[in-house]
Amino acid sequence: MDKTKVAATKNITSLSQETRVFPPSKEFSKRAHIRSMSEYRKLYNESIKSPEKFWAKQAKNEVVWFAPWKKVLQWKAPHAKWFVGGKLNVSYNCLDKHLNTPTANKAALIWEGEPASPGRAGEERVFTYKQLHREVCLFANVLKRNGIKKGDRIIIYLPMIPEAAIAMLACTRIGAIHSVVFGGFSAQSVADRVFDCQAKMVITSDGGFRRGSIVPLKKNVDEALAIKDAQGVSLTKTIEKVIVVRRANNDIHIEEGRDVWWHRELEYVNANCPAEKMDSEAPLFILYTSGSTGKPKGILHTTGGYLLGAKMTSKYVFDLQETDVYWCTADIGWVTGHSYVVYGPLANGATSLMYEGAPNFPEPDRFWRIIEKYGVTILYTAPTAIRAFMKWGVEWPKKHNLTSLRLLGSVGEPINPEAWIWYHEVIGGKRCPIVDTWWQTETGGIMISPLPGATPTKPGTATLPFFGIVPEVVDDQGKAVPKNCGGKLVIRKPWPNMLRGIWGDPKRFVETYWSEVKGSYFTGDGCRQDKDGYFWIVGRIDDVLNVAGHRIGTAEVESAMVSNLKVAEAAAVGRPDELKGQALVVFVTLKTGVQASQSLREELRNHVGKEIGAVAKPDDIRFAEALPKTRSGKIMRRLLKQIASGIEIKGDTTTLEDLSVLAKLSSSDE
Ligand code: WTA
Repeated sequence: MDKTKVAATKNITSLSQETRVFPPSKEFSKRAHIRSMSEYRKLYNESIKSPEKFWAKQAKNEVVWFAPWKKVLQWKAPHAKWFVGGKLNVSYNCLDKHLNTPTANKAALIWEGEPASPGRAGEERVFTYKQLHREVCLFANVLKRNGIKKGDRIIIYLPMIPEAAIAMLACTRIGAIHSVVFGGFSAQSVADRVFDCQAKMVITSDGGFRRGSIVPLKKNVDEALAIKDAQGVSLTKTIEKVIVVRRANNDIHIEEGRDVWWHRELEYVNANCPAEKMDSEAPLFILYTSGSTGKPKGILHTTGGYLLGAKMTSKYVFDLQETDVYWCTADIGWVTGHSYVVYGPLANGATSLMYEGAPNFPEPDRFWRIIEKYGVTILYTAPTAIRAFMKWGVEWPKKHNLTSLRLLGSVGEPINPEAWIWYHEVIGGKRCPIVDTWWQTETGGIMISPLPGATPTKPGTATLPFFGIVPEVVDDQGKAVPKNCGGKLVIRKPWPNMLRGIWGDPKRFVETYWSEVKGSYFTGDGCRQDKDGYFWIVGRIDDVLNVAGHRIGTAEVESAMVSNLKVAEAAAVGRPDELKGQALVVFVTLKTGVQASQSLREELRNHVGKEIGAVAKPDDIRFAEALPKTRSGKIMRRLLKQIASGIEIKGDTTTLEDLSVLAKLSSSDE
């Protein structure tokens, strides 16, 4: 039995005792890109022994280059440059490359809109590679017409509609850097991101559909563009233009001279737009993600390495074949949407499905209806969604024919074995391998995952590293820990699609990722390796929570909370949650004279929603007279976590400044 013995690092223990093993079926392996463990090991060993040779060969085979590179890797830790001197274009590799092949007339993007009545399917749009190429060229010319040049930053704040993918690809076509902001984020978050990357343009829509109602995206943008800093200077003064897609037909304000309609602009351009020859290390996109301070980090990815990583991982982890209909359910606002809705699948000439809305609209069988309708063969989703499906009941998937499915994927958080087995049996009909893929915004693509035709899987583990990836579990001194010991997960060697930095903050890049364990990339995750070398991710060990697969920085929530004038102090912690994995609990002390009440609790939840976005709204707010602190004044989160989880307080409380605070907290839920 796989049992954790001791934790080499404080507070990292893994209690999973899963022993079931699921080898790939012969039938699956026979047709797969990688057909056996020995094939995987051979390639993996090659990729580790001579990484530069391995990556050079892959880059040559997988990517179209306008000019060859001079050097495969230039590594001055922690700064990597891949395929130095090489020239390429991402949109060319996703579109033009397929034009004079049979792929040209294959569906590149199948899109389904959310609005639908019960028992009915929704609106549908399909773009072949040829059509998508044309749309991207047209819109790239719209960008140019509106003053966008190579290197300019553009915020994309759109619902899950084809225009989101088109806008991303159009940016890459002309060398503009996109930063997609998830449609669930607030006006304040949009403004902060515009300011941080000094964006010149926002691309948005009038509104978007979500669970039957309209999210007023353009209104949020208007609000964002009106926000001023403490000195009264506009945070977003760099914005020159806003391009608006008509989607929900809701009433919006159009600011003359600044705002233009997407469909109107198309009338002024043609579809002739050659792809810009970009440097391999030219910035491709910035994507903001939570960290352990109050300010999200702009993770920077560059062109050549990112594309190669997205393409190869899509091909091998999802075992993409000519006839697949591949569906990744992630929103385009997250890195999963970047690498596995848009860039990875399209670079492979695959058919990528995109769905606009919620999994339970109009009824809880929407996903299964979509799978049946389009004959989806590969489904890539998140454990939190799987747990929701379990709760809604097997009758919903049972209503539909899901036999087209041949492979299932999971991402975003550790998948609990119960959900894994349910996914395997109810959705996969026991015939589909499951790839549990571990990776991060920073890693650009999948890092640890089974290869479905080769790797025997075990419920709850992402198993083994992808080619070229060298993960290790280490102790506080950075030394590898023995098998079955908990520790910190680090990556020892550079890889092509690793982040290149944090936009505008080189110091934070070094401090966050390269200082914890000297010479290695620190993931922020706790982990252990079992006797077979499989990696079991335990979860974050920094001050970042994973709520329903979304990264939320506790410091970010705290700073949003204390920006409310009634709040004196706040401490955010996670507690285990059956559905979301982790739920967000915030302990709040109020300013003198402010009364705790249910309505104040609601007010504060909405306040955080307004500051960050609905994803960060606390599940629970607990008012307290004081927070437990050490004598040096640090909030004792460990204790708060235990209180939030209803666990009896154990461990050392001798550093606690005022013991009586504890007793009050445990019973202070009003
Ligand atoms: C967690 C999402 C366990 C992990 C692609 C990581 C996972 C963070 C898994 C990154 C998995 C993601 N098993 N944990 N298969 N996938 N995580 O940046 O804590 O939104 O550090 O990227 O999610 O979240 P991010």
